[in-house]
Amino acid sequence: MIPIAHPVFGDQEVDAVSAVIRSGMIASGEEVVSFEKEFAEYCGTSEAIATSNGTTALHAGLLACGIKPGDEVIVPSFTFIATATSVSMCGARPVMVDVCEDSFGISPDAILESITPRTKAIIGVHLFGQPCNISAIQDICAEKNLQFIEDCAQAHGALYKGKKVGSFGSVGCFSFYPTKNMTTGEGGMITTCDSALADHIRRLINHGQSKKYLHTEIGYNYRLTNIGAAIGRVQLKKIDTMNEARNKNAALFSKNINHPKIFLPQILNDCSHVFHQYVIRVGGGKRDELASWLSNEGVGTAIHYPIPVNEQPVYANISNPACPISSKLAKEVLSLPVYPGLSIEELSHICNSLNRWSC
Ligand SMILES: Cc1ncc(COP(=O)(O)O)c(C=O)c1O
Repeated sequence: MIPIAHPVFGDQEVDAVSAVIRSGMIASGEEVVSFEKEFAEYCGTSEAIATSNGTTALHAGLLACGIKPGDEVIVPSFTFIATATSVSMCGARPVMVDVCEDSFGISPDAILESITPRTKAIIGVHLFGQPCNISAIQDICAEKNLQFIEDCAQAHGALYKGKKVGSFGSVGCFSFYPTKNMTTGEGGMITTCDSALADHIRRLINHGQSKKYLHTEIGYNYRLTNIGAAIGRVQLKKIDTMNEARNKNAALFSKNINHPKIFLPQILNDCSHVFHQYVIRVGGGKRDELASWLSNEGVGTAIHYPIPVNEQPVYANISNPACPISSKLAKEVLSLPVYPGLSIEELSHICNSLNRWSC
């Protein structure tokens, strides 16, 4: 079976982890500091703060931006649950709005319809590796005095108008989960150009500690380990090559998949895509049938995501605007394997299996 995702590791990651273990300094330390510096440089921000995962990055980032009980934060309804639950973790209310059908990104029109006096921030998710409509969101934030928070969990290295994602918002929040474009095992990163905000985040992720054993606010243990950072530093050196491989695989799919019932992803103007996922759409209620066919052909697939966030049981008690595009996408999307290690034979097999599907 060709898996849906597979991390790319080599001897360098093994050597880097071995060196950290041999040093005995396995918790957060010098490796983390170096990883943060290198990641900030990569993203074009002045600061980066490593965290234990992408969810804690979002939580700490939102807290540092002042999100608190009683506030509303506008998030897309079509995303991974953590985009919304991180807002709930602050005691604030996620307002889940619809997305654009072409980009899967949050809809600027839907944002405008949902702003209230309680709205404090907008989270834009660069879903599947493609930047959302950053300019439109920035304009809304400037006009309405809102903070822009970027959920970059799926888009390491993606560019919007030639600039890296994670460098546009008050904070950019990344995940290094093993299926992501680069990994540290579990891990995350917050990027920002605001040094006061960065200092606050550093306290928040370390028990609210401002000096050793002096705790000035409620904080958390959201630190990354040196082991994770050592893997991350090696992965960061390879991220552009790995993204190029994803783009090559995606281009091969877009050229060779040719089936009347299958709709292919689009790359939008102003965006460079890093194809965290290559997501096709299958209409007519046939998506699950195609997934079964591919499974029988030895091709693993996944559904990102089968239930929009606003329809999740956890948010059943929150009244929310209708999100018809998200509901439609949830029934139609199917992610194909697109990770860098796929062989040309595997890529051809995926295309042939799709083109041979009779429905
Ligand atoms: C869009 C998005 N946001 C946030 C997260 C949370 O990241 P993590 O799983 O590292 O906590 C993910 C992870 O899948 C994600 O895809």
